[in-house]
Amino acid sequence: MKIAIINGPNLNLLGKRETDIYGNMPFEKYLDELKTTFPRVDFHYYQSNVEGELINELQRVGYEFDGIVLNAAGYTHTSVAIGDAIAAIKTLVVEVHISNVHSREDFRKLSHVSGKSAGSIFGLGLKGYELAVRWFVDK
Ligand code: DQA
Repeated sequence: MKIAIINGPNLNLLGKRETDIYGNMPFEKYLDELKTTFPRVDFHYYQSNVEGELINELQRVGYEFDGIVLNAAGYTHTSVAIGDAIAAIKTLVVEVHISNVHSREDFRKLSHVSGKSAGSIFGLGLKGYELAVRWFVDK
C-alpha cells in the first residue's frame, strides 16, 4: 500500500527546532524507523515550506494513494486552501501534530485541516505518525 507523509513549514528543522516542544529527532531518521515498523508500506515523504507546493502534492497523491498523513504545521491554522484541497481529493487524510495544539496558544486551536480529515492526532510526539499509518494499515 502507498502512504504519503506530507510535512509543512519548518518541519525540515525537526531535531534542531524548539527541541523542548518537538524533540531531538530529525524526521528523516524517524522515517527510517517507520519503514522498519511497516516493511510492506510504500512510503512517499514530502516536505515543503511553501503553501502552494503542499497543495500541489496533496493533489498529486490524492487520487491514487491509500492514505495521506498530513502535518500542515503553521498552515493548519491559516490555510483555507489546504482545507479545500483535502476536501477536493479522494484519498483520506489523517491530521497529525507533534505537539498538543490545544494546550498552546489560542491561535493553534483553529484547524482548517481537522474538519476535512478522517481524524486527527496531536500531542503524542512523532509517535502520532506511526499511529496514523497504523490506522490506514488496519483499515
Ligand atoms: C505543529 C503545531 C503547529 O501549531 C506548529 O505551527 C508547527 C508544528 C506540530 O506538529 O505540533 O509547526 O504542527
